[in-house]
Amino acid sequence: MTIAEAVAVPASPPPGGEILHASNRATIIWGDSRDPQIIASVPDGYGLLCTDPPYGVRHNSGRSGTFTEIAGDDGSVDWPAVLAEWVGPEGTRTRGLKDKRHVYVFGYRPDQLAGALRLGGSTELIWDKVSFGTGDLSRPWGPQHEPITFGVHVKRKAGRAGGDGRLAARLRQGSILRYQRPNAGSAVRHSNEKPVPLMQDLIESSTVRGDLVVDPCAGSGSTGVAAVLEGRHCFLVEVDRQHAELAVQRVQAAERLAAQIEAA
Ligand SMILES: C[S@@+](CC[C@H](N)C(=O)[O-])C[C@H]1O[C@@H](n2cnc3c(N)ncnc32)[C@H](O)[C@@H]1O
Repeated sequence: MTIAEAVAVPASPPPGGEILHASNRATIIWGDSRDPQIIASVPDGYGLLCTDPPYGVRHNSGRSGTFTEIAGDDGSVDWPAVLAEWVGPEGTRTRGLKDKRHVYVFGYRPDQLAGALRLGGSTELIWDKVSFGTGDLSRPWGPQHEPITFGVHVKRKAGRAGGDGRLAARLRQGSILRYQRPNAGSAVRHSNEKPVPLMQDLIESSTVRGDLVVDPCAGSGSTGVAAVLEGRHCFLVEVDRQHAELAVQRVQAAERLAAQIEAA
C-alpha cells in the first residue's frame, strides 16, 4: 500500500454523516443530504432554505481538467423530492422550515418546485453573472445567467389555495440580481461557487438576525459564509469531502471576521 492510499479519505460519507464543524454559528456535515438520519437532525422551525443542487447537466462542457465532476450532476437524483423532505413533508405542521418562510433554489424554475416545496407564492429570479462562461462551445451564446426560484413555503394546503404566502413589501426589488461570477477571476475553488454578496442579498431579504439558514448542497460553503456575515446561523451538508472541508475553512474565516466586527 502506498502512503497516499494509506491516508486516503473515504470516497463516501458514513451513514448519518460526519460533523466536520460545530460552533454557536455553524454546523457543517460531510454527508448525503438524502440520508434520513441527516434530515432528521436539522432543527425544526428553521428560518430559510437556500440551496444550489446539482442541475442535472454535466458542468465540464467547455473546459477539461479544471474541476472534478460535481457529485449527483448526472440527473439521477430527483432534487425537488429530496428538498421536499428538507422543508417537511405534506401533513406536517412543525417539521422542517417554519410556516410561511422562504426558499431560494438555484438552477430550478418555480413550476418545477411549487408542488414539492409547497409554495404559496413564487417568483423566478435571474442571477446575471455579468460575464459569460464557456458552456457549449458549438453555440453562439455563452451562458451568463442562472434561474433562482424564490418561494414562500406554506404548510396548510388551504392556505396555499387561498393565496397565502404573498410577498412581504420589503422584498420589492428587481428580479434580476447582478453579481460577478466568482470563477471569472483566478481564484477558482468550486466550479459552481456562488458570489457571497449575492447570497447575502438573498439571506438579508428573507431572514432576521439569529435565524437558521439551511443548505443541503453546500459546495464550497458560500451560503454559510454569507449567513455568518449577516449574523445568522447556518446548517450545511456536502457530500464531497474536499468541498466540505473547503466550506469549513471558509465558514471559520467568516466566523473570525464576524467575531471581530461584533467586538469592535
Ligand atoms: C451546484 S454545487 C453548490 C455550489 C455552492 N453553492 C457554492 O457556492 O460553492 C452542488 C453541490 O452539491 C453537492 N452534492 C451533490 N449531491 C449531494 C448529496 N446527495 N448530498 C449533499 N451534497 C451533494 C455537490 O458535491 C456540489 O458541491
